[in-house]
Amino acid sequence: MTKLAIMGAMQEEIDPLLEFFKDYKVINYADNNYYELTYNGLDIVIAHSKIGKVFASLTASTLIQKFSCDTLLFSGVAGAINPALNIGDLIVATKLCQHDLDITAFGHPYGFVPGGKVFVESSKELLALAKKVAEKENLKVIEGTIATGDQFIHSNTTKEFIEKTFKADALEMEGASVAVVCDALNIPFFILRAISDSANMDAGFDFDEFLQSSAKISSNYLIKIVDEL
Ligand code: ADE
Repeated sequence: MTKLAIMGAMQEEIDPLLEFFKDYKVINYADNNYYELTYNGLDIVIAHSKIGKVFASLTASTLIQKFSCDTLLFSGVAGAINPALNIGDLIVATKLCQHDLDITAFGHPYGFVPGGKVFVESSKELLALAKKVAEKENLKVIEGTIATGDQFIHSNTTKEFIEKTFKADALEMEGASVAVVCDALNIPFFILRAISDSANMDAGFDFDEFLQSSAKISSNYLIKIVDEL
């Protein structure tokens, strides 16, 4: 690796990282800020994309193609599907899918379009590193499937559809689009999330309440992983 990209979706998801790294140069490009810095001899670019798959794809592509990053780590928050995941718990995606991608009218499975695949897998090497760091730091981290869509889920019915259709453990609004970009451009990546809510009728309230604390939990773990790169 020569240059690391670290991405979040919201400013709140990258603020703890910027506070930790402190010295950075800000570059504005395509209506977004990119924060360039060096840490332990490693070149890093941090950015938040704004919410959703389109903005996240733009930012991931920019980090790779304009800033020449060759590894991408995503840190942020997610809604829990797996009942073993509580607020503040960490999940690293082994694979990701788009729960709102639907051309089933033409006989295709949910989450599939021709030329693509339902699930995109994260880098096995980065997952192994994340696991090693979790063990060293004595952190409980669940490995599982993350489902992404351009919807904030706050209903048990939608959550159950996503759980049944994709066997997903958590859901959010960017991960799978970043995964698709990295997969197409051959860039190793992982998507790390800490739970902010349970995607149920309380989700809006819980998200507002726990966004900052869960973003910090995810960032703290990510920094420990960067220390081992
Ligand atoms: N990110 C965190 N919680 C979420 C939810 N309930 N739906 C979509 N994205 C989320």
